[in-house]
Amino acid sequence: MAYNLLKGKRGIIFGALNDQSIAWKVAERAVEEGAQLVLTNTPVACRMGTISQLAEQTGSTVIAADATKVEDLEMLFSEAMQVLGGKIDFVLHSCAMSANMRKKRPYDDLDYGLLDKTLDISAISFHKMLQVAKKLDALNDFASVLALTYVASHRTFFGYNDMADAKSLLESIARSFGYIYGREKGVRVNTISQSPTYTTAGGGIKGFDGLFDFADRMSPLGNANADECADYCVVMFSDLTRKVTMQTLFHDGGFSNMGMSLRGMTQYNKSFIDENTDKDTGKIIYG
Ligand SMILES: NC(=O)c1ccc[n+]([C@@H]2O[C@H](COP(=O)([O-])OP(=O)(O)OC[C@H]3O[C@@H](n4cnc5c(N)ncnc54)[C@H](O)[C@@H]3O)[C@@H](O)[C@H]2O)c1
Repeated sequence: MAYNLLKGKRGIIFGALNDQSIAWKVAERAVEEGAQLVLTNTPVACRMGTISQLAEQTGSTVIAADATKVEDLEMLFSEAMQVLGGKIDFVLHSCAMSANMRKKRPYDDLDYGLLDKTLDISAISFHKMLQVAKKLDALNDFASVLALTYVASHRTFFGYNDMADAKSLLESIARSFGYIYGREKGVRVNTISQSPTYTTAGGGIKGFDGLFDFADRMSPLGNANADECADYCVVMFSDLTRKVTMQTLFHDGGFSNMGMSLRGMTQYNKSFIDENTDKDTGKIIYG
């Protein structure tokens, strides 16, 4: 159901690779709510992915840009203002990549060149896009800027590797830039901390199936999916959230405030009983 929440607004959406991408769902929802969009991704992703399909479907323009390159971002924001006919009202940063994860380098054997890349693509690019937008005065007063993050920025999750450090930095950039941009132009800068979601980036996380199932069992509302994340992004882009800034907003079915759930305990007990039961008597061995 559409509410015209973004009627007349202009947005830039980074990171729609394929129809599983969270950014893809956000683009679809934003247009349903009346927005006009520029879609962007790396030149390679624009060639290899299916972003042109999304552009056709949503009546959007694709402008390729590597989010780690300041000159690409300057070109992107300048051209986006021309194409859309004015300053930008909302931006979604939905970019992440860990080459250490791809190369299966564990956290205590990181390649530091690859760590630099992880931090640049997944976090510092957010600073670069905010700084470029501010220098070009490309955002309207009270614009809304969002990036997607994950709870491993606050608490340790097996297998999340150097991406945990990137997400901590990403959230810190949202606070630091949010202060300056808010004070000067009323621009809101927030991150949304999303449940595990089946996407290309999500699938790259070690033990993702287990992580997904664990989070789902622990969350009273269950995991939030990509469509639900898109709904939340739309609300955050809208004028209904004008005083929300510098926050990490958890969109995770309640996971981040849980310790143990009944569904989690039930699953845990299954393996506990299996591993600790005397095969002959069926009694639990306590020590
Ligand atoms: N999938 C999950 O479980 C999950 C959970 C929480 C947060 N997130 C975050 O959501 C965001 C989107 O990821 P997704 O799950 O939709 O996966 P995805 O693989 O569809 O999207 C990641 C995108 O990052 C883009 N990208 C990589 N390098 C880039 C660069 N240099 N410049 C511009 N774009 C670049 C990729 O081309 C791709 O489109 C990421 O920040 C991810 O960490 C994902």
